[in-house]
Amino acid sequence: MIRLSERLQKIYDQVLPSESVCDVGTDHGYLPLALLESGRSPRVIMSDISEGSLLKCRENAENMLSQAAPFDLRQGSGIEVLEPGEVDTVVMAGMGGMLISELLGKDYCHAHSFRRYILQPRKHVGRLRYWLLDNDFTVVHEDLAREGKFIWPILTVESFGRALFVNADPDDIEFEYPLTLLEYKNELTEEYLRNALELERLKLGSKTAGSLTTFSELRTQRHRVARLEYMIERL
Ligand SMILES: C[S@@+](CC[C@H](N)C(=O)[O-])C[C@H]1O[C@@H](n2cnc3c(N)ncnc32)[C@H](O)[C@@H]1O
Repeated sequence: MIRLSERLQKIYDQVLPSESVCDVGTDHGYLPLALLESGRSPRVIMSDISEGSLLKCRENAENMLSQAAPFDLRQGSGIEVLEPGEVDTVVMAGMGGMLISELLGKDYCHAHSFRRYILQPRKHVGRLRYWLLDNDFTVVHEDLAREGKFIWPILTVESFGRALFVNADPDDIEFEYPLTLLEYKNELTEEYLRNALELERLKLGSKTAGSLTTFSELRTQRHRVARLEYMIERL
């Protein structure tokens, strides 16, 4: 049986049984190979922009799959490797949030032809949440997973939701730390929020000391600290 890291296992758990999956930026292919091996997904596509990654995937598929199973390797960028609606779920993990939104934003209709996405951004998660809402995607589940020194957010997203805000700023803390993190809290949530609070308090300290800080920057920074304190109190 293929053993996955905690992060990849949590992504695996978000794949609905019997759904076909494309893992974009698959690199080693561990997640789709595990989905195929266990039978959770009847069909997987492993895609990556890098030829070297796909060679690694092929080798892993040959070594790890206990019996011949139908895997499909595709080289290319983002969801361009897919026909509209070709799979039920698209996974994009281990990439930056800005890159994920750029890849999905290339073609609105194509991006919405897939029902479900599981996204695990390495950074800029707030920007990604903003982009998703602004482009009619709905976050239906949130998770956090530890890997290495970091705790990573995992967003399960469905096509078409409510675009329900105006005058928001993509850098608003509400996108980085939404209240849904409390709704889906797990054993990592408190540490994740406390780490963020420590960082925001440090930034507040340096802004308070800095003579060039504007009143509006100071107010935003105070709001960021207060927001995290509020969330931690409600855990
Ligand atoms: C850090 S690895 C993540 C591997 C795996 N998804 C995981 O989460 O463990 C990022 C992968 O994304 C691939 N990548 C980067 N830009 C891409 C793009 N535009 N389209 C497809 N894959 C891309 C890289 O080649 C690399 O293999």
